[in-house]
Amino acid sequence: MLKAKLKQPQDRPTSRRDLMAAALSPSPRRFPPSLRSPFVGPDEKLNHFTLKFKSSVHKSHYQPRAKANSCDVRVEIPKQWYNLVADLSVKPPPPLHPKTHKPLNPEDLSPLFPDELIKQEVTNERFISIPDEVIDVFRLWRPTPLIRAKRLERLLETPARIYYKYEGTSPAGSHKPNTAVPQAWYNAKQGVKKVVTETGAGQWGSSLAFACSLFGLNCEVWQVRASYDQKPYRRLMMQTWGAKVHPSPSTVTNCGKKILESDPSSPGSLGIAISEAVEVAATNVDTKYCLGSVLNHVLLHQTVIGEECLKQLEAINETPDIIIGCTGGGSNFGGLAFPFIREKLKGRMSPIFRAVEPTACPSLTKGIYAYDYGDTAGMTPLMKMHTLGHGFVPDPIHAGGLRYHGMAPLISHVYELGFMEAVAIPQTECFQAAVQFARTEGLIPAPEPTHAIAAAIREALNCKATGEEKVILMAMCGHGHFDLAAYDKYLHGDMIDLSYSTEKVQASLAAVPQVVP
Ligand SMILES: Cc1ncc(COP(=O)(O)O)c(C=O)c1O
Repeated sequence: MLKAKLKQPQDRPTSRRDLMAAALSPSPRRFPPSLRSPFVGPDEKLNHFTLKFKSSVHKSHYQPRAKANSCDVRVEIPKQWYNLVADLSVKPPPPLHPKTHKPLNPEDLSPLFPDELIKQEVTNERFISIPDEVIDVFRLWRPTPLIRAKRLERLLETPARIYYKYEGTSPAGSHKPNTAVPQAWYNAKQGVKKVVTETGAGQWGSSLAFACSLFGLNCEVWQVRASYDQKPYRRLMMQTWGAKVHPSPSTVTNCGKKILESDPSSPGSLGIAISEAVEVAATNVDTKYCLGSVLNHVLLHQTVIGEECLKQLEAINETPDIIIGCTGGGSNFGGLAFPFIREKLKGRMSPIFRAVEPTACPSLTKGIYAYDYGDTAGMTPLMKMHTLGHGFVPDPIHAGGLRYHGMAPLISHVYELGFMEAVAIPQTECFQAAVQFARTEGLIPAPEPTHAIAAAIREALNCKATGEEKVILMAMCGHGHFDLAAYDKYLHGDMIDLSYSTEKVQASLAAVPQVVP
């Protein structure tokens, strides 16, 4: 019954031309209605409070609130990752071999990944134990804080309660070490000597460099040119942890050389950097590849965020009405959201889930749902996902980690099932929200989670208009201490909003491979 309700049939275009027209049309996506469960919600919990302060409620900035202190809750680090696939009655479509277009055999992935990660990529098991050695490293920064943004609430004069799960306390400053550490550990355990990867924001590259340094692995990183130029200190972090860093496109791979021949000033993209790293892994037997997002095992590792957050909210007797996170490849959003989707499927709560992407790279809201390559050169398996076309090079917005043409197949599948919503927000609104957040909550967010903050502020202001006391939970997935050039642009009025080019997307969608089901 519940699952039937969750599956909202949508008008799906069928022909390629229809798909493209629908993808590019400005009409907003219809959101599935939120489900209300019989769970005792926050409205009931607050009743006594509302009565007591009836006359003055929401008027004063210093109004005592029902849930005053949440930050001091200490919970245990989860011992297991959660695999949402196990609880989906409709399983996600399988990845396909890039040449034969036949479902991929797990062994096909062996040149790129160690055995344990391949198993995690395809598993249907509900829970996977986190190795003790990995938990031991997690202790450096986990559990991460769940913080109530009381001062931001006051500034907005909203009756909503805003919470954020802050992942910026990790050594690299974001959620990325949650998967970098297990990926490095499984590679080291299998005797791999070197791993290669791409990085967009520099957050993933520095996370993997950090993790490799702990387990004695060599690490080589292709950093997207725009980010390499904007963020020299991210490069220096990677080098400090012992990694070798190339700007991408680079002259050290065939794929990079080809792109530079046609566009010598290419700003690069995650898709291009992935092609370069995959090329090196595929042509060197002693080298494996690591990916910082998109794949099932990456999203699986990130569920430590949501599992931990569930316990923290339970400890303060709070239940979210809406869960918001930014999406580049989908890992921080999925990591927070998936354990809550499980709880919703079980009828224990009924939050809505909202992904936020940049208007310059709107894969969920404007992409098509089709099999496409994960990289620009077309070397990776074909994955069914929301895509703007693997050849799409987004404009160099400041949220480098959100400049990816596709979306995690699992997030895309969940979106198709109608379990979640998506919105696209332009970068100046995001930075305006980030500055409000910094000036009330103190933390300076990375450009990526500014998208989540902007969406949370929209929701909180909506609550102000309606008087609803919603509980808003957002993923604050990293700090922006190495992103101050972006803040400089914003504060000096030099930041402009970039929208994707319809022609560019049309051209890249035309190159999406035709896969006969
Ligand atoms: C801080 C931060 N947030 C978000 C992202 C986007 O990735 P994902 O959607 O996988 O969380 C990145 C990617 O580099 C990032 O560095």
